[in-house]
Amino acid sequence: MGGPCGTGLTVLSGSANPALAALVASCLGEALAPVELERFPDGEARPVVPDVRGRDVYVVQPTCPPVDEHLVELLLLLDASRRAGAARLTAVVPYFGYARQDRRSRPGEPVGARLAAEVIAAAGAQRIVVVDPHTAALEAMSPVPVATLSAARALAAALGPVADAVVVAPDLGAVRLAERYAAIIGAPVAVVRKHRLTAAAVRAGPLAGDVAGRRPVIVDDMVSTGATIEAAAELLADRAGAAPPAVVATHGLFSAGALDRLGHLGLARLLVTDTVPPPRADAVEVCSLAWPLAEAIGRLHREERLDDVAWPG
Ligand code: R5P
Repeated sequence: MGGPCGTGLTVLSGSANPALAALVASCLGEALAPVELERFPDGEARPVVPDVRGRDVYVVQPTCPPVDEHLVELLLLLDASRRAGAARLTAVVPYFGYARQDRRSRPGEPVGARLAAEVIAAAGAQRIVVVDPHTAALEAMSPVPVATLSAARALAAALGPVADAVVVAPDLGAVRLAERYAAIIGAPVAVVRKHRLTAAAVRAGPLAGDVAGRRPVIVDDMVSTGATIEAAAELLADRAGAAPPAVVATHGLFSAGALDRLGHLGLARLLVTDTVPPPRADAVEVCSLAWPLAEAIGRLHREERLDDVAWPG
Protein backbone atom coordinates (compact mmCIF):
# COMPACT_ATOMS: atom_id res chain seq x y z
CA MET A 1 0.00 0.00 0.00
CA GLY A 2 1.54 3.34 -1.06
CA GLY A 3 1.87 6.12 1.52
CA PRO A 4 3.71 9.40 1.97
CA CYS A 5 6.38 9.68 -0.74
CA GLY A 6 5.51 6.13 -1.82
CA THR A 7 6.62 4.52 1.46
CA GLY A 8 5.16 1.15 2.34
CA LEU A 9 3.18 0.36 5.45
CA THR A 10 4.45 -1.92 8.21
CA VAL A 11 2.40 -3.17 11.17
CA LEU A 12 4.30 -4.43 14.21
CA SER A 13 2.88 -5.92 17.38
CA GLY A 14 4.13 -6.21 20.92
CA SER A 15 2.98 -8.99 23.22
CA ALA A 16 -0.07 -7.17 24.64
CA ASN A 17 -2.64 -8.09 21.97
CA PRO A 18 -1.06 -9.85 18.98
CA ALA A 19 -4.43 -11.31 17.94
CA LEU A 20 -5.91 -7.84 17.40
CA ALA A 21 -2.75 -6.61 15.66
CA ALA A 22 -2.78 -9.60 13.27
CA LEU A 23 -6.45 -8.95 12.43
CA VAL A 24 -5.72 -5.26 11.84
CA ALA A 25 -2.82 -6.14 9.54
CA SER A 26 -4.94 -8.66 7.67
CA CYS A 27 -7.75 -6.11 7.18
CA LEU A 28 -5.07 -3.90 5.60
CA GLY A 29 -4.04 -6.74 3.31
CA GLU A 30 -0.70 -7.05 5.12
CA ALA A 31 0.99 -9.63 7.33
CA LEU A 32 2.32 -8.60 10.72
CA ALA A 33 6.02 -7.83 10.44
CA PRO A 34 8.06 -10.41 12.37
CA VAL A 35 9.28 -9.16 15.74
CA GLU A 36 11.43 -11.13 18.18
CA LEU A 37 10.06 -10.54 21.65
CA GLU A 38 12.93 -11.70 23.79
CA ARG A 39 13.59 -11.20 27.47
CA PHE A 40 16.89 -11.31 29.29
CA PRO A 41 17.07 -13.73 32.24
CA ASP A 42 16.62 -10.79 34.63
CA GLY A 43 13.28 -9.95 33.00
CA GLU A 44 14.35 -7.02 30.81
CA ALA A 45 12.51 -6.94 27.49
CA ARG A 46 14.65 -6.81 24.34
CA PRO A 47 12.43 -6.77 21.27
CA VAL A 48 14.11 -6.99 17.88
CA VAL A 49 12.29 -5.47 14.89
CA PRO A 50 12.91 -6.24 11.21
CA ASP A 51 14.39 -3.83 8.69
CA VAL A 52 11.85 -0.99 8.46
CA ARG A 53 14.05 1.51 6.61
CA GLY A 54 11.87 4.06 4.84
CA ARG A 55 8.63 2.41 6.03
CA ASP A 56 5.52 3.99 7.56
CA VAL A 57 5.44 1.96 10.78
CA TYR A 58 2.47 1.33 13.10
CA VAL A 59 3.28 -0.32 16.43
CA VAL A 60 0.12 -1.88 17.87
CA GLN A 61 0.31 -2.27 21.64
CA PRO A 62 -2.47 -1.55 24.13
CA THR A 63 -0.94 -0.79 27.51
CA CYS A 64 -3.26 -3.13 29.37
CA PRO A 65 -2.25 -5.20 32.41
CA PRO A 66 0.52 -5.86 33.17
CA VAL A 67 0.53 -2.15 32.31
CA ASP A 68 4.15 -1.32 33.09
CA GLU A 69 5.48 -4.33 31.18
CA HIS A 70 3.43 -3.51 28.12
CA LEU A 71 4.29 0.18 28.28
CA VAL A 72 8.02 -0.47 28.48
CA GLU A 73 7.80 -3.01 25.65
CA LEU A 74 6.00 -0.39 23.54
CA LEU A 75 8.75 2.14 24.27
CA LEU A 76 11.44 -0.34 23.26
CA LEU A 77 9.58 -1.29 20.06
CA LEU A 78 9.29 2.39 19.13
CA ASP A 79 12.95 3.02 19.88
CA ALA A 80 13.98 -0.06 17.91
CA SER A 81 11.82 0.97 14.93
CA ARG A 82 13.23 4.48 14.93
CA ARG A 83 16.78 3.16 15.03
CA ALA A 84 15.91 0.67 12.28
CA GLY A 85 15.11 3.59 9.99
CA ALA A 86 11.30 3.98 10.07
CA ALA A 87 10.31 6.97 7.93
CA ARG A 88 7.29 7.63 10.10
CA LEU A 89 6.31 6.04 13.39
CA THR A 90 2.84 5.79 14.95
CA ALA A 91 2.01 4.19 18.30
CA VAL A 92 -1.40 2.50 18.07
CA VAL A 93 -2.46 2.18 21.70
CA PRO A 94 -6.09 1.03 21.57
CA TYR A 95 -6.23 0.96 25.38
CA PHE A 96 -4.12 3.73 26.87
CA GLY A 97 -3.06 2.73 30.39
CA TYR A 98 -2.46 5.44 33.00
CA ALA A 99 -5.15 7.61 31.38
CA ARG A 100 -7.08 7.62 34.65
CA GLN A 101 -4.18 9.46 36.26
CA ASP A 102 -5.09 12.68 34.47
CA ARG A 103 -4.86 14.98 37.48
CA ARG A 104 -3.61 15.00 41.03
CA SER A 105 -6.50 14.22 43.34
CA ARG A 106 -4.23 14.70 46.35
CA PRO A 107 -0.78 16.13 46.96
CA GLY A 108 2.07 13.78 46.25
CA GLU A 109 0.44 12.01 43.29
CA PRO A 110 1.93 11.97 39.76
CA VAL A 111 0.04 12.82 36.56
CA GLY A 112 0.61 9.43 34.95
CA ALA A 113 -1.37 10.13 31.78
CA ARG A 114 0.90 12.99 30.81
CA LEU A 115 4.04 11.07 31.64
CA ALA A 116 2.90 8.05 29.60
CA ALA A 117 2.21 10.27 26.56
CA GLU A 118 5.56 12.03 27.00
CA VAL A 119 7.61 8.84 27.15
CA ILE A 120 5.81 7.35 24.14
CA ALA A 121 6.68 10.50 22.18
CA ALA A 122 10.24 10.50 23.54
CA ALA A 123 10.67 6.89 22.37
CA GLY A 124 10.01 7.99 18.82
CA ALA A 125 6.26 8.01 18.20
CA GLN A 126 5.35 10.92 15.96
CA ARG A 127 1.66 10.28 16.51
CA ILE A 128 -0.48 8.22 18.88
CA VAL A 129 -3.78 6.48 18.01
CA VAL A 130 -6.09 5.72 20.94
CA VAL A 131 -9.65 4.44 21.41
CA ASP A 132 -11.95 6.00 24.01
CA PRO A 133 -9.18 7.15 26.36
CA HIS A 134 -10.34 7.76 29.90
CA THR A 135 -9.33 11.40 29.69
CA ALA A 136 -10.23 13.77 26.88
CA ALA A 137 -7.23 15.82 28.02
CA LEU A 138 -4.80 13.25 26.59
CA GLU A 139 -4.37 15.23 23.38
CA ALA A 140 -3.48 18.36 25.34
CA MET A 141 -1.05 16.39 27.50
CA SER A 142 0.75 14.75 24.60
CA PRO A 143 3.73 16.36 22.87
CA VAL A 144 2.70 14.64 19.60
CA PRO A 145 -0.71 14.56 17.86
CA VAL A 146 -3.25 12.11 19.25
CA ALA A 147 -5.88 10.59 16.94
CA THR A 148 -8.77 9.68 19.20
CA LEU A 149 -11.27 7.12 17.98
CA SER A 150 -14.48 6.04 19.64
CA ALA A 151 -15.86 2.51 19.70
CA ALA A 152 -19.39 3.83 20.25
CA ARG A 153 -20.65 3.21 16.70
CA ALA A 154 -19.20 -0.28 16.50
CA LEU A 155 -20.54 -1.22 19.93
CA ALA A 156 -23.96 0.31 19.28
CA ALA A 157 -24.18 -1.70 16.06
CA ALA A 158 -23.22 -4.87 17.94
CA LEU A 159 -25.80 -4.09 20.61
CA GLY A 160 -28.52 -3.74 17.99
CA PRO A 161 -31.87 -2.06 18.52
CA VAL A 162 -33.07 -1.87 22.14
CA ALA A 163 -36.73 -0.92 22.53
CA ASP A 164 -37.40 1.70 25.22
CA ALA A 165 -33.70 2.08 25.99
CA VAL A 166 -32.23 4.59 28.40
CA VAL A 167 -28.46 5.10 28.25
CA VAL A 168 -26.98 5.24 31.74
CA ALA A 169 -23.68 6.94 32.56
CA PRO A 170 -22.42 5.17 35.71
CA ASP A 171 -20.50 8.28 36.76
CA LEU A 172 -20.09 11.90 35.71
CA GLY A 173 -16.98 11.06 33.68
CA ALA A 174 -19.05 8.81 31.40
CA VAL A 175 -21.66 11.44 30.51
CA ARG A 176 -20.04 12.44 27.21
CA LEU A 177 -19.77 8.81 26.14
CA ALA A 178 -23.39 8.22 27.20
CA GLU A 179 -24.52 11.19 25.15
CA ARG A 180 -22.67 9.80 22.15
CA TYR A 181 -24.45 6.43 22.51
CA ALA A 182 -27.77 8.15 23.13
CA ALA A 183 -27.39 10.11 19.90
CA ILE A 184 -26.59 6.93 17.97
CA ILE A 185 -29.39 4.76 19.35
CA GLY A 186 -31.91 7.55 19.86
CA ALA A 187 -32.49 7.18 23.59
CA PRO A 188 -32.54 9.48 26.62
CA VAL A 189 -29.68 9.62 29.15
CA ALA A 190 -29.68 8.99 32.89
CA VAL A 191 -26.69 9.71 35.09
CA VAL A 192 -25.51 8.02 38.30
CA ARG A 193 -23.43 9.98 40.72
CA LYS A 194 -20.52 7.79 41.82
CA HIS A 195 -18.41 8.16 44.94
CA ARG A 196 -15.19 6.19 44.87
CA LEU A 197 -14.40 4.80 48.33
CA THR A 198 -11.30 2.72 47.48
CA ALA A 199 -9.65 1.44 44.28
CA ALA A 200 -12.11 -1.49 44.27
CA ALA A 201 -15.17 -0.04 46.02
CA VAL A 202 -17.61 2.67 45.02
CA ARG A 203 -20.98 3.93 46.22
CA ALA A 204 -23.63 4.98 43.71
CA GLY A 205 -26.39 7.53 44.09
CA PRO A 206 -28.38 9.58 43.42
CA LEU A 207 -29.62 8.83 39.89
CA ALA A 208 -30.68 11.69 37.62
CA GLY A 209 -33.10 10.75 34.83
CA ASP A 210 -36.14 8.58 34.28
CA VAL A 211 -35.53 4.84 34.01
CA ALA A 212 -38.99 3.54 34.93
CA GLY A 213 -40.31 1.08 32.36
CA ARG A 214 -37.13 1.37 30.32
CA ARG A 215 -34.28 -0.96 29.42
CA PRO A 216 -31.06 0.55 30.81
CA VAL A 217 -27.87 0.37 28.78
CA ILE A 218 -24.95 1.25 31.09
CA VAL A 219 -22.01 2.58 29.08
CA ASP A 220 -18.46 3.19 30.28
CA ASP A 221 -14.97 3.48 28.84
CA MET A 222 -13.75 0.48 30.82
CA VAL A 223 -14.63 -2.26 33.25
CA SER A 224 -11.80 -2.96 35.67
CA THR A 225 -12.87 -4.35 39.06
CA GLY A 226 -16.53 -4.12 38.04
CA ALA A 227 -17.31 -1.99 41.09
CA THR A 228 -18.66 0.91 39.02
CA ILE A 229 -21.02 -1.31 37.02
CA GLU A 230 -22.09 -3.24 40.12
CA ALA A 231 -23.00 -0.06 42.00
CA ALA A 232 -24.92 1.38 39.04
CA ALA A 233 -26.76 -1.91 38.37
CA GLU A 234 -27.76 -2.24 42.03
CA LEU A 235 -29.02 1.33 42.07
CA LEU A 236 -31.08 0.64 38.95
CA ALA A 237 -32.43 -2.58 40.46
CA ASP A 238 -33.82 -0.52 43.35
CA ARG A 239 -35.80 1.55 40.87
CA ALA A 240 -39.18 -0.03 40.34
CA GLY A 241 -39.86 -0.83 36.72
CA ALA A 242 -36.31 -0.74 35.36
CA ALA A 243 -35.44 -3.89 33.37
CA PRO A 244 -32.09 -5.71 33.96
CA PRO A 245 -29.39 -3.53 32.42
CA ALA A 246 -27.15 -4.24 29.47
CA VAL A 247 -23.53 -3.15 29.92
CA VAL A 248 -21.45 -1.79 27.05
CA ALA A 249 -17.83 -0.84 27.65
CA THR A 250 -14.93 -0.20 25.29
CA HIS A 251 -12.14 -1.78 27.33
CA GLY A 252 -12.88 -5.04 29.16
CA LEU A 253 -9.99 -5.21 31.58
CA PHE A 254 -11.85 -7.45 34.02
CA SER A 255 -9.32 -7.35 36.85
CA ALA A 256 -9.30 -10.33 39.20
CA GLY A 257 -12.79 -11.11 40.53
CA ALA A 258 -14.61 -8.73 38.18
CA LEU A 259 -16.43 -11.41 36.18
CA ASP A 260 -17.71 -13.11 39.37
CA ARG A 261 -18.85 -9.76 40.66
CA LEU A 262 -20.72 -8.98 37.44
CA GLY A 263 -22.04 -12.55 37.19
CA HIS A 264 -24.29 -11.97 40.20
CA LEU A 265 -26.03 -8.96 38.70
CA GLY A 266 -28.29 -10.70 36.17
CA LEU A 267 -27.12 -8.41 33.36
CA ALA A 268 -29.08 -8.57 30.12
CA ARG A 269 -25.86 -8.27 28.04
CA LEU A 270 -22.17 -7.60 28.71
CA LEU A 271 -20.49 -6.26 25.59
CA VAL A 272 -16.87 -5.12 25.21
CA THR A 273 -14.34 -4.71 22.39
CA ASP A 274 -11.03 -6.46 21.77
CA THR A 275 -8.80 -3.44 22.50
CA VAL A 276 -7.40 -5.72 25.21
CA PRO A 277 -7.43 -9.53 24.99
CA PRO A 278 -10.99 -10.51 25.91
CA PRO A 279 -11.63 -13.12 28.60
CA ARG A 280 -12.88 -16.55 27.60
CA ALA A 281 -16.26 -16.29 29.27
CA ASP A 282 -19.66 -17.08 27.80
CA ALA A 283 -21.20 -14.08 29.50
CA VAL A 284 -18.94 -11.64 27.64
CA GLU A 285 -19.76 -10.66 24.06
CA VAL A 286 -16.86 -9.24 22.09
CA CYS A 287 -17.07 -6.77 19.25
CA SER A 288 -13.80 -6.59 17.30
CA LEU A 289 -12.38 -3.19 16.42
CA ALA A 290 -9.89 -4.68 13.95
CA TRP A 291 -11.67 -3.41 10.88
CA PRO A 292 -12.26 0.17 12.07
CA LEU A 293 -8.69 0.38 13.44
CA ALA A 294 -7.39 -0.81 10.07
CA GLU A 295 -9.56 1.77 8.35
CA ALA A 296 -8.09 4.48 10.58
CA ILE A 297 -4.50 3.28 9.99
CA GLY A 298 -5.10 3.10 6.23
CA ARG A 299 -6.36 6.66 6.23
CA LEU A 300 -3.44 7.91 8.31
CA HIS A 301 -1.06 6.10 5.97
CA ARG A 302 -2.62 7.72 2.92
CA GLU A 303 -2.70 11.06 4.78
CA GLU A 304 -6.46 11.25 4.60
CA ARG A 305 -8.79 12.79 7.14
CA LEU A 306 -10.13 10.67 9.98
CA ASP A 307 -13.04 12.85 10.94
CA ASP A 308 -15.22 11.86 8.00
CA VAL A 309 -14.82 8.12 8.53
CA ALA A 310 -18.13 6.65 9.62
CA TRP A 311 -16.60 4.77 12.52
CA PRO A 312 -14.51 7.25 14.53
CA GLY A 313 -17.05 9.05 16.72
C1 R5P B 1 -13.57 5.68 35.95
O1 R5P B 1 -13.91 6.81 36.12
C2 R5P B 1 -13.79 4.89 34.70
O2 R5P B 1 -14.52 5.57 33.73
C3 R5P B 1 -14.47 3.59 35.01
O3 R5P B 1 -15.78 3.84 35.47
C4 R5P B 1 -13.73 2.86 36.08
O4 R5P B 1 -12.37 2.95 35.88
C5 R5P B 1 -14.13 1.42 36.10
O5 R5P B 1 -13.37 0.80 37.11
P1 R5P B 1 -14.01 -0.29 38.02
O6 R5P B 1 -14.57 -1.35 37.13
O7 R5P B 1 -12.86 -0.77 38.87
O8 R5P B 1 -15.06 0.35 38.85
